[in-house]
Amino acid sequence: MSGPPAKGGAPAAAEGALDGRAFRNALGQFPTGVCVVTAQAPDGEDLGTTMSSFNSLSLDPPLVLFSVDRRASSLPKWQMVQGCAINVLAESQKEVSGRFARSRSNKWAGIDFDRGYAEAPLLRGVVARFECRPYAIYDGGDHLLFIVEVVRFRIFANRAPLIFCRGNYGALKPTDEPAPLWPLDIHY
Ligand SMILES: Cc1cc2nc3c(=O)[nH]c(=O)nc-3n(C[C@H](O)[C@H](O)[C@H](O)COP(=O)(O)O)c2cc1C
Repeated sequence: MSGPPAKGGAPAAAEGALDGRAFRNALGQFPTGVCVVTAQAPDGEDLGTTMSSFNSLSLDPPLVLFSVDRRASSLPKWQMVQGCAINVLAESQKEVSGRFARSRSNKWAGIDFDRGYAEAPLLRGVVARFECRPYAIYDGGDHLLFIVEVVRFRIFANRAPLIFCRGNYGALKPTDEPAPLWPLDIHY
């Protein structure tokens, strides 16, 4: 892609010379939710990692994805799990997000949870959760891309989701705007 630099922002770097920090900042313009992906490793250790890379992938079969940094200390165990739970955090759970983003810390101290598919820990107070089994793992550059198949899910519609954008947490602002009428039967 080429063209004049967008007005009011940093110009894109020349091809082949991407400025890493500018690239990260540009990616951070895309708001996401925040999840803690949990699993029980074969050795019995409970894994939990804060992730914003969760996304929907396929309705049939029901697939979702997330990506794990190759530098994550728990990566070798993530590659061996028999199932996982994607816990979508509520806006009141910033502390939970911070706790599961701290590498090699005692992430589980004082946390109440239930057990789900393949013994994956299910966090309380979330807006939704998806219990999944492994489907595929692909190379994703400095990350590994995990595609997992949803075996069951639950929604807690009375809670609002935590938002992450431009390196900061945020919350959804309610609006009176009517929902758009989608021209297609899409799931977004
Ligand atoms: C909001 C937020 C989103 C994150 N998203 C991801 C992600 O999608 N993938 C990832 O590998 N790490 C992500 N991280 C960083 C990990 O949570 C962090 O590196 C984690 O502690 C690695 O765990 P480990 O080294 O204990 O395995 C995110 C952190 C935060 C605060």
